[in-house]
Amino acid sequence: MLRSIMITGANSGLGKEAARQFALRPEVERIVLACRDESRAAEAQLWLEESTGRSIFEVLIVDVSDPDSARAAVDRMQEPVDALVLNAGGMGGQKPLGITSQGVTNMFAANMLGHSILTEEMIRRGLIKQAVLYAGSEAARGVKKMNIKRPALKTFSSEEFTQVINGTYDGKLDDMANYGLVKLMASLWMSTMARKHQDLQFVTMSPGGTSGTKVMDKLPMGMKLMFKYVMMPIMMPLMGMVHGVEVGAKRYVDGLTDPAYLSGHFYASKESTVTGPIIDQGDIFPLLYDVRVQDNAWKAIHAFHPKVEAAVFA
Ligand SMILES: NC(=O)c1ccc[n+]([C@@H]2O[C@H](COP(=O)([O-])OP(=O)(O)OC[C@H]3O[C@@H](n4cnc5c(N)ncnc54)[C@H](OP(=O)(O)O)[C@@H]3O)[C@@H](O)[C@H]2O)c1
Repeated sequence: MLRSIMITGANSGLGKEAARQFALRPEVERIVLACRDESRAAEAQLWLEESTGRSIFEVLIVDVSDPDSARAAVDRMQEPVDALVLNAGGMGGQKPLGITSQGVTNMFAANMLGHSILTEEMIRRGLIKQAVLYAGSEAARGVKKMNIKRPALKTFSSEEFTQVINGTYDGKLDDMANYGLVKLMASLWMSTMARKHQDLQFVTMSPGGTSGTKVMDKLPMGMKLMFKYVMMPIMMPLMGMVHGVEVGAKRYVDGLTDPAYLSGHFYASKESTVTGPIIDQGDIFPLLYDVRVQDNAWKAIHAFHPKVEAAVFA
């Protein structure tokens, strides 16, 4: 039973709605809103208190694209949580393939780098008691109907993953292909984590095609016009490929509370869609459970942890 939950990116969209749904469960006594901006976090906290009638929310400031911020946030934690939801992220802002001072793409930084440091540092200090859930995406295994190709590298070696992380991969990745690969790497990392930490549960869960969030607002202009004004409001509903934020966030809640979801596995919609029933993605993309590929992703990600982390987790 989960009594305390930390959610990254909890001031908006799926993270905020997941916080609301968890708060409606009477056994939940504490929810940590891990957000990067103090005023947006305070606004979300107020809304959550008013809409649930519960005063169980606290704020932890963290920018998950910044390793120092992730480590500093863990330093400030005073109590462990039962579960950690790694939800913050999206398409990497205005310049998804721009390179940060850590030498990684903005896409990788926002979705993975700080999350991996936050998680591993929390585990090292005994600050996660039961489970971790990562917000995956159907883009990690491709969606034919939406013209999103299945991520394809030549060998899925740690060297190739490294090239995706630092933006030097020569396979001409567009923003969506890069997003799919980063979400794929995250799911592979979660599977390795599940093998390394068998006392904890690690579930990757895609919220599915979800409207009512701010993910489209932050896209580069061309993609924003396409996704915010054409795909999301017109094309995807016509194709039956979108659901509301309540449905997407419920997938997170189910992923952490339903024992049918197995540690180390990646769950999302059926092959041809991004909504509806959830299936184990290994059934349609066996590479996900290739232990060698999982470990290649883990290794590539670790090479970008600040030195002290790499030594601790080697
Ligand atoms: N919506 C979909 O259809 C869909 C489908 C599959 C997967 N997902 C995944 O679901 C997750 C949530 O997306 P959403 O649709 O709810 O989008 P959203 O409304 O834009 O929410 C994203 C949240 O992440 C936070 N965030 C972004 N970068 C951050 C950083 N560096 N440090 C801390 N917080 C950061 C944002 O904070 P600010 O408000 O400060 O920017 C915001 O709270 C993402 O990981 C996304 O990839 C979404």
